[in-house]
Amino acid sequence: MIKREAWGSRIGLILAVAGNAIGLGNFLRFPVQAADNGGGAFMIPYMISLLLLGIPLLWIEWALGRFGGARGHGTAVAVFDYLWKNPLAKYIGLLGVLIPLAVVVYYTYIESWTLLYSFFSLMGSLPSTPLTSDVKDYLQPFQQFLAEKTGQTSSGIFLTPAVETYLFFVVTLLINLYILYRGVSAGIEKVAKFAMPLIFIMAIILMVRVFTLTSPDGRNFLDGLGFLWNPDFSALTDPKVWLAAAGQVFFTLSVGFGAILTYASYIKPKDDIALNGLAGASVNEFAEVILGGSIAITASVIFFGIPATAMIASQGAFDLGFMALPAIFANIPYGQFFSFIWFLLLFFAGVTSSIALSQPAIAFLEDELGWSRQKAVAVLGVFLFISAHIPIFIKGALGEIDFWVGTLGLVVFALFEAIIFFWIFDSRKAWEELTRDNDIKIPFIFYYIMKYVAPGLLIIILLSWSIEMLPQQLQKTDAGTWAGRLFILALTVIGILLIKLAWEKRNGRTSP
Ligand code: TRP
Repeated sequence: MIKREAWGSRIGLILAVAGNAIGLGNFLRFPVQAADNGGGAFMIPYMISLLLLGIPLLWIEWALGRFGGARGHGTAVAVFDYLWKNPLAKYIGLLGVLIPLAVVVYYTYIESWTLLYSFFSLMGSLPSTPLTSDVKDYLQPFQQFLAEKTGQTSSGIFLTPAVETYLFFVVTLLINLYILYRGVSAGIEKVAKFAMPLIFIMAIILMVRVFTLTSPDGRNFLDGLGFLWNPDFSALTDPKVWLAAAGQVFFTLSVGFGAILTYASYIKPKDDIALNGLAGASVNEFAEVILGGSIAITASVIFFGIPATAMIASQGAFDLGFMALPAIFANIPYGQFFSFIWFLLLFFAGVTSSIALSQPAIAFLEDELGWSRQKAVAVLGVFLFISAHIPIFIKGALGEIDFWVGTLGLVVFALFEAIIFFWIFDSRKAWEELTRDNDIKIPFIFYYIMKYVAPGLLIIILLSWSIEMLPQQLQKTDAGTWAGRLFILALTVIGILLIKLAWEKRNGRTSP
């Protein structure tokens, strides 16, 4: 067997894992979710989800990764097959390759907008409108601009993005592929060591700038922080708030995608997972709660006030990040510079996440099919390039793919991880595997959380989402929806065929 790759140093590993977790979710999704779901009160279900779901499942994923890596495998396909002597296990494990792979198809596209926008900021070619009393008038040019660049202005089923949008997507994809081509240590780790400090520096510059902003009518950052953190405890009786908190914890920690498992498979068989996992999560939470919570929403409240910010946040993360923020920057001194680093920050945060989303597929091709990294990256590149045309050009496809993999799929996969490890494999052996060779002790209460609480909560989440969202989603029949569904179906079929091929090869090798 070819020697598997490994991380070069512990600090490199932690930065790579933090880079995996820190992404667009920290700076755009988190503040919008918090603003929409009870402000400061959101942090209560958020912290509870972190303790009962996020951290335990993170540790499980690390343990599965270390277990697989020690046996020469970096995806759930082989790990589930080891843990569960059932021919189905490896096909369930396929979720841990397909989910991140489907996500990266559209994540890379959105990531390329951030590069495009940082370029526009530098060139001074983003719209600029003077502050008027009505926020809608004020944001309108930015709305129009984003719609034009991403091609949403056309009627009919197709999107018609601008040439530069397409070009920047190709460039972004090539950057990603180049990093992956360099490999785990010389590519991913090296980029993380460079990008993570830069992300923190840029975020802190932006935070300081926002904290020194005032509006003509006297609002300052305290109004912004007050808006985000003043608890509205009545929100806690709404189950939607709890679901949103759990969803955000999963998304931000990158848990339930299979990507942590793959990164963990590149540590040495007797390396720590407990402290590494916790360190990565802590860095991510700092970036999310402190930095992510202090930039976008705060700036928006200072400039537009609370009612308008609530309106912007309810429109989603893109309105906040791609419209409200550049609109603010257009009206402050050196705004071009701040706009540039805002989008560059998002781009770096995006890149260190999209390479993590791509690595499970590469690990699968290398470990299970015996391909070289070069060949795996080349094939992945062609696949990503072709597939991306679906969300780029077909209206509604992005949302459909995101629903199945980015909302539902990860909860299903996380549930399988917990159940296969703690129920099918054996909870005692699972606990032993999890707690061996660690630098910190995982409290025993997590045994019960991992065995009972987390799977129980996942089932509740799954059921309530299925009841609430599935019927609506299934009723959609527009072209984009079908394109998204067909894409996922095709991906699944290809995955199944590749597994069959891999296992035939394996069995062919072992039999006389
Ligand atoms: N955590 C990333 C963010 O906050 C997004 C993400 C979700 C991700 N799942 C992932 C990144 C899996 C890498 C791998 O934006």
